[in-house]
Amino acid sequence: MQHKRLEDQAETFIWQCYAELQKTEEETVARIQAVRREIAETSTYRHTGEELAHGAKMAWRNNARCIGRLFWHTLEVVDARGARTAGEVAEALMGHIGRAYNNGRIRPVMTVFHSGEDPDGMIRIWNHQLIRYAGYPGDGVHRRSGDPSSDAFTSVCRRLGWQGSGGDFDVLPLVVSIGDEPPCVFPIPETLVQEVQLTHPEIERFADLQLRWYPVPIVSDMLLEIGGVEYTAAPFNGWYMETEIGSRNFGDTGRYNRLPAVADLLGLDRSTNTSLWKDRALLELNRAVLHSYKRAGVSIVDHHTAADQFVRFQEQEKQREREVSGKWHWLIPPMSPSSTPIWEDHTLKELHLSPRLIYQKSAYAAFTGEPDSIQEAQVCPFHHK
Ligand code: ARG
Repeated sequence: MQHKRLEDQAETFIWQCYAELQKTEEETVARIQAVRREIAETSTYRHTGEELAHGAKMAWRNNARCIGRLFWHTLEVVDARGARTAGEVAEALMGHIGRAYNNGRIRPVMTVFHSGEDPDGMIRIWNHQLIRYAGYPGDGVHRRSGDPSSDAFTSVCRRLGWQGSGGDFDVLPLVVSIGDEPPCVFPIPETLVQEVQLTHPEIERFADLQLRWYPVPIVSDMLLEIGGVEYTAAPFNGWYMETEIGSRNFGDTGRYNRLPAVADLLGLDRSTNTSLWKDRALLELNRAVLHSYKRAGVSIVDHHTAADQFVRFQEQEKQREREVSGKWHWLIPPMSPSSTPIWEDHTLKELHLSPRLIYQKSAYAAFTGEPDSIQEAQVCPFHHK
């Protein structure tokens, strides 16, 4: 009786969604009946554009890990359920990048492709984020380079015929698969990725580190669930909070691990923890990120402002009598967390709300054998020009 479960999920969603959209009870009941009939006939149902758009916003609002949820209702939802081929999907993804970037005034956008149950086959975007840097583990001859979090996906791309420069900031291509068809590879035109070079407000030599980052984080590997329907391809973005880049992407030892280089540039004593060289390097890195994005005219938020906005979001939700789901250790920022109001919030708990964004099985899990085990046929005919 799987239909029963889907029916229940659909009904719960329609009630909540329609209440928030201030629809009448009659309209709501009629819609639920129509959905029930559709499920009985087709085993699934199709959201209206309005349901899709509002459901996507609710999924953002419900995400326990996101500090930026005050802006949930501003999400622009692009209905790309009509995309059938990998080429059409890639075109929509390129469109998403441009629309989200918006010359630096970043707009929160989600592009939703048809659901996993669609007879045309499940759409998967293999990238973790639409724009992301390649990672190369290095060997006896070459030192490691790039973003370690991309090592596995980079090797998949290389096996699909993509070639990177082997540098620290190679933008990975988009990889899209539909159903059982082989994946297709689409390089992203350089003009779509307006990277920000990192400079520091006072330290001129900071530029010598040659650090840069892309403007928009567009998470593309999560599953969007609305009323029991699972959208396996629904990339979404907000704008960056500076600590994501400064503290984590560049600071983490398992990522770019640049604190030692920054500390050396600052002339700090790395022979002892008590010089607090890591903390000082982190601080200057984060200042450089904020300064550079501002100077480039690209939207970014600092962690103090973001934390204040999160508190406003909590207040707003309380007024609307909705519970906020929150994961404390994700919400506290990775720099000076105790200086933000979230630190002292002991009420945060993760609730399992729907609509939601969840992790799903890696799209390339079955694709990690030895290079020579891949057959010629495993390459997309589409991009062979
Ligand atoms: N933390 C991830 C990164 O550094 C991005 C996650 C989404 N972030 C956001 N501000 N919407 O790339």
